[in-house]
Amino acid sequence: MASKTKPEPLSPVVSPDEVREIANRFGTPVYVYSQRILEQQADSALAFPNAYGLTVRYAMKANPNMNIARLFRKRGILLDVSSGFEAERARMKAEIPYEDMLMTSQEIPENLFGLVEFGLDYNACSQHQLENFGIFFPGKEVSVRINPGAGSGGTNRTNTGGESASFGIWHEQLDDVFRLARKYELNVKRVHTHIGSGSDPAVWQRVAGMSLDIVARFLEQGHDVRTLNLGGGYKVARMSYEKATDLQECGKPVKEAFKEFARDKGVKLGLEIEPGTFLVANAGCIIAKVIDLKRTAKYKFLITDTGMPEVTRPSLYGAQHPIAVVHRSPSDGEREPERVIVSGHCCESGDILTPAPGDSEKLKPRWVEGMSRGDFVVIGGTGAYCAGMSTINYNSYPQSPEVLITGRGIELIRKRQTLEQMTRNELVI
Ligand code: LLP
Repeated sequence: MASKTKPEPLSPVVSPDEVREIANRFGTPVYVYSQRILEQQADSALAFPNAYGLTVRYAMKANPNMNIARLFRKRGILLDVSSGFEAERARMKAEIPYEDMLMTSQEIPENLFGLVEFGLDYNACSQHQLENFGIFFPGKEVSVRINPGAGSGGTNRTNTGGESASFGIWHEQLDDVFRLARKYELNVKRVHTHIGSGSDPAVWQRVAGMSLDIVARFLEQGHDVRTLNLGGGYKVARMSYEKATDLQECGKPVKEAFKEFARDKGVKLGLEIEPGTFLVANAGCIIAKVIDLKRTAKYKFLITDTGMPEVTRPSLYGAQHPIAVVHRSPSDGEREPERVIVSGHCCESGDILTPAPGDSEKLKPRWVEGMSRGDFVVIGGTGAYCAGMSTINYNSYPQSPEVLITGRGIELIRKRQTLEQMTRNELVI
């Protein structure tokens, strides 16, 4: 096991030469994704153990750049969309048909009617959502998201099940669902649970059993449930000392539980999963530049030209991302590691890339290879919930470009924002 006191290795997305080339061609900070790793992850997700068929949906909120969704779709991965805007974005930019999307949202989109008419699958996440769907589409098939009463996330902020989470219909209120379904003659064809991001596999497996019990209740009420969607949330190891969820191990007992369910209830349920993090997190990194070095009586600070605008996760969750140094010139020899606080460039003391694990209020110095101004830092594990979840334009820093390393080379998939674009909608009166 790698030591917590030694520098983390360079992200597998890039080689040191590619870091220098990408920084020269596109400037810093810049997001970089690897098609090779995205495809490897897609293939692992598609091999998830299942008894009677598997559908994998990509939770596009993890990284909404449409080149990524397109690449997954070529491999047969459908979409989980979390708003009407995501659905339209995927349709417009990636030409993904609405029939390939399941919408699970806290909000009813204004264009719901049109989206469903064009084939979008709808997952009602509250009694209000279900009633609204029933009014528009009486007699239709629908999915329901249930909060099964238990959850698990990498941090409390990414736990989406249990009594402190507002996602889905509370499991003790199924009678409301049955009543509304009767009122509008809806058939519940899919039950959905998603208990959190970075969830403990043991809890996920237990909830799979609880979700099967919920499906059984729907069958008793005469609903023709054919699919159980168990959400995403599979843990990845961003730091070398972290342990990722092994999808094969995690899915095996659930496959057996589906078989037992079929023996007991006579219904062979299809399995759906909708990972985001698993598919993209370690397929991405950020290349940034060291712009300053400062000391206080206690710490050495390394200031970079990235931070919250590209990667909010450390300041939000105390998330740990590997940080490796690539020297500006290939001829620079290796240097002794030093213990530093890596900081972003925003005027915000919370703009820290090395918080204490799980506690964004505290600092935790990190061992990194010695460096000077102008060297590059590569922040790994930033393919998920970074470009799509940034504090965009804070301090008026422009939105960063994204590049994809494909079989053809290094390709720009989003340009750097200009100041004109940043202020386009502002009206000076
Ligand atoms: N399905 C639903 C309904 C979801 O809400 C989510 C994530 C997923 C699937 C995918 O979960 P994943 O496999 O990516 O864990 N910003 C946090 C994660 C929030 C996830 C929100 N929902 C982070 O940076 O870790």
